[in-house]
Amino acid sequence: MDKQTVRDVTWAGKRALVRVDFNVPLDGTKITDDTRIRAALPTIRYLLEHGARVVLMSHLGRPKGARNPKYSLQPVAFHLTGLLHDVAVSFVHDCVGPDAEEAVRSLGPGEVLVLENLRFHPGEEKNDPAFAQQLARLGDVYVNDAFGAAHRAHASTYGVAKLLPAVAGFLMEKEITVMGQALANPERPFVAVIGGAKVSDKLPVLQHLLPKVDTLIIGGGMANTFLAAQGHELGKSLVEPDVFDTARSFLGEAQALGRQVLLPADLVVADRLAADAAFSVCGVDAVPADGMAVDIGPATLARYQEAVRQARTVVWNGPMGVFEVAPFAKGTVGIAEAMAEVHGVTIVGGGDSVAAVEQAGLANRMTHVSTGGGASLEFLEGKQLPGVVALLDKA
Ligand code: 3PG
Repeated sequence: MDKQTVRDVTWAGKRALVRVDFNVPLDGTKITDDTRIRAALPTIRYLLEHGARVVLMSHLGRPKGARNPKYSLQPVAFHLTGLLHDVAVSFVHDCVGPDAEEAVRSLGPGEVLVLENLRFHPGEEKNDPAFAQQLARLGDVYVNDAFGAAHRAHASTYGVAKLLPAVAGFLMEKEITVMGQALANPERPFVAVIGGAKVSDKLPVLQHLLPKVDTLIIGGGMANTFLAAQGHELGKSLVEPDVFDTARSFLGEAQALGRQVLLPADLVVADRLAADAAFSVCGVDAVPADGMAVDIGPATLARYQEAVRQARTVVWNGPMGVFEVAPFAKGTVGIAEAMAEVHGVTIVGGGDSVAAVEQAGLANRMTHVSTGGGASLEFLEGKQLPGVVALLDKA
């Protein structure tokens, strides 16, 4: 990575204003998945060990610029206390203003303060310069470790980075380095597995990856659109007729470039989207008029798994079917299982595929499971992420 990191700063006595992505799933005040909090611990620990006062700021959910107790970061601060054991962690009920400034003033070296949700203020998402100034008063050096929010040009991810010396944390560094190397210099064969509901959402990632990969595997609802564009009748399945031409020209481009694109040959078809729905397996030419594709079929899965297992680099984004409904999760879980057997680099990005890998208990068998949903997708699209762009370049 060509950006400065926490290693490039002398921290003793300094206030580190750290943007983390603590946008974690909550059931009431109970955190149901603390992966993102744990992922920020190496940076927090490093800063503490080097004598910094650590001020953590994050968003949680989408409270749309208004205070809403449902989205308070207090439970997260409490959870962090448990994870950091011997460290004093405090919480302040606002992220800017006199109370936040007083809480920062009373913070000792080696202590942590968690600020309340940034998105309780409209200035955050608007990247309001006055709000960014208020945030900047809380630190001497800005650290961005929120890879998951790096695609947002908000006050805490972009504006404040223009006001303080700005460096990356370890999580940010790891995400950018691992995914960047896989795309720039992959060990081959390089296979990308792209799923999800819509071609229109994933077209930029397909187009960015096509020239780089040896094989592109397509699954999920978006595969229906490719199949329908080729003339298959898919019953009640989700298809996007307005991108048929685009889908056809994409397949033509792949052929011209000599890239292999794998599409389903069979599908799991259900009469409706429910765990107790009637379902069957059929070839892509035999989808009943009242059926909808909900997963890739077993023959397709076997072919996809073979391609994945032979790869030396695999990047996966997006499920193969409606994996939240247990009977239709086999294709998605099967991809996770094949990736776990790869002798090489395996990267999973995007909320749904990450959830699937975790559900299957295979997250620790992957080289890298990204903490970013939208951010990892934009990274795979080849976009510059504002939260990264704003950081200081390496000298
Ligand atoms: C995420 O969950 O992908 C990040 O925290 C970004 O959240 P946002 O989409 O609400 O900006």
